[in-house]
Amino acid sequence: MDVIESLHSRSDDTTPVPRHVAIIMDGNGRWAKARRLPRIAGHKQGVEAVRRVSKAAREQGVEVLTLYAFSSENWRRPEEEVRDLMGLLRHFLKNELKDLVAENVRLRVIGDYRALSGDLVAMIDDAIAKTSVNTGATLVIALNYGAQAEIVAAARRLASAAQAGEITADAIDEAMFSDALTTHGLPPLDLLIRTSGEQRLSNFLLWQAAYAELLFVDTLWPDFDAAALADALAQFGRRQRRFGGL
Ligand code: IPE
Ligand code: IPE
Ligand code: MG
Repeated sequence: MDVIESLHSRSDDTTPVPRHVAIIMDGNGRWAKARRLPRIAGHKQGVEAVRRVSKAAREQGVEVLTLYAFSSENWRRPEEEVRDLMGLLRHFLKNELKDLVAENVRLRVIGDYRALSGDLVAMIDDAIAKTSVNTGATLVIALNYGAQAEIVAAARRLASAAQAGEITADAIDEAMFSDALTTHGLPPLDLLIRTSGEQRLSNFLLWQAAYAELLFVDTLWPDFDAAALADALAQFGRRQRRFGGL
């Protein structure tokens, strides 16, 4: 079999599909700038990409899709942009809940979303509750999320438990620590994609990315689609994961 053929045969149904994919959805602002549009126009197209790509991920067999929607550092943006982003989130939750229920998707949120405005917190809690019985794919949205804060919160929780005598310090291991993170119970992260050409993690899933395959693509998030996802999954399928072994 020549190289091309063997590459081909790996993209058939024997190719391993990542169970858990995370995406740093970056490049909305640049997408808008290239069209001389206001940044909000890029964020609006970004929401369309979320709809498109989350549906495609389910169709392509991904069990869990985790999307970085708003970082704990994004509060540093101009007030108007933060307001626009929260408005789009409100819109998304309102419109998407029906579809999530119809498509048997469970919604989870990671990050300190309780610091968002009260109506958003209520909408998020409602969407989580209404989809909690679903048994299909899981959509995880990272809102006001920062990995360092998540790790500190887990350390604090375990330290309190130790102080209260519920656990001993020696009992704390990787499994217990993982369970104290907001991603507890989710399958390990297999593939982490960042769009827009930037090659950094920007405080996303630092613990969970320990053995994830990393993929940086130049496509701006509003242009990311089912074909781009399929391409990312195919690239994942060609990676050789070793986990420190041979
Ligand atoms: C990603 O696009 C969306 C969020 C961070 C909310 P950006 O808004 O960061 O777009 P660029 O990086 O300025 O192009
Ligand atoms: C990361 O993108 C956060 C999200 C995609 C929500 P940023 O655009 O905020 O990251 P930096 O500031 O370029 O690192
Ligand atoms: Mg950016």
